[in-house]
Amino acid sequence: MPEEKQTTPANSSQFDRRAFFAKLGLGSLSIAAAGTAVFAYQFLSPNVLFEPSPTVNAGKPGSYPVDSVTLDVNSGIYLIHAKEGFFALSAVCTHLGCLTAWKPELGIIACPCHGSKFNREGDKIEGPAPKPLPWLRTWVNDEGDLMVDRSTSIRPMQFVRV
Ligand code: FES
Repeated sequence: MPEEKQTTPANSSQFDRRAFFAKLGLGSLSIAAAGTAVFAYQFLSPNVLFEPSPTVNAGKPGSYPVDSVTLDVNSGIYLIHAKEGFFALSAVCTHLGCLTAWKPELGIIACPCHGSKFNREGDKIEGPAPKPLPWLRTWVNDEGDLMVDRSTSIRPMQFVRV
C-alpha cells in the first residue's frame, strides 16, 4: 500500500518561513541595488554650476537719453550715457558686494550697506570701499544693441560712441 504523504502543520509552517525569508532577502537586495544605482548616478553625473552669461544686451542706444544713468538691477550694471558716449559700470559695491543705487538728486552712486559713495564715473568719494566701481567692456553689436560684458573690466574713460 502506497504511503500517503501528508503535509503536517509543522512542514507547512517551515515552508512558509523559508519562502518568507527568501522574499525578505530578495527585497533587501533589491533595495540595496536601487540605493547603489542612485548613488552611482549621482556620483557619475557632472557636478556643474550653471551660471547666467556674463554678457548683457542693454538694448538700443536711443533708449538712453544723454546724461542718464540707468541701473539694471537684474544684471547689476549701470548703463551711462554721458556727453562723451556710453559706458557701463558694475553696480556691485567693491566693499562687501552690496548693490549700489543711483541718487539723481545728489548725482552720486551710493551704497546702502556701509555708506560708500561714488561719482558717476565710479570713483570713490567716501566710505570703506577699497576700489572704484569697475568700468565694464561695452560695445555695439551687429544689430545695433549695446552689449556689456560683466566679466571684463576695462580702463576708465573708454566711451562707446554711437
Ligand atoms: S558693501 Fe558697500 S560700503 Fe560696504
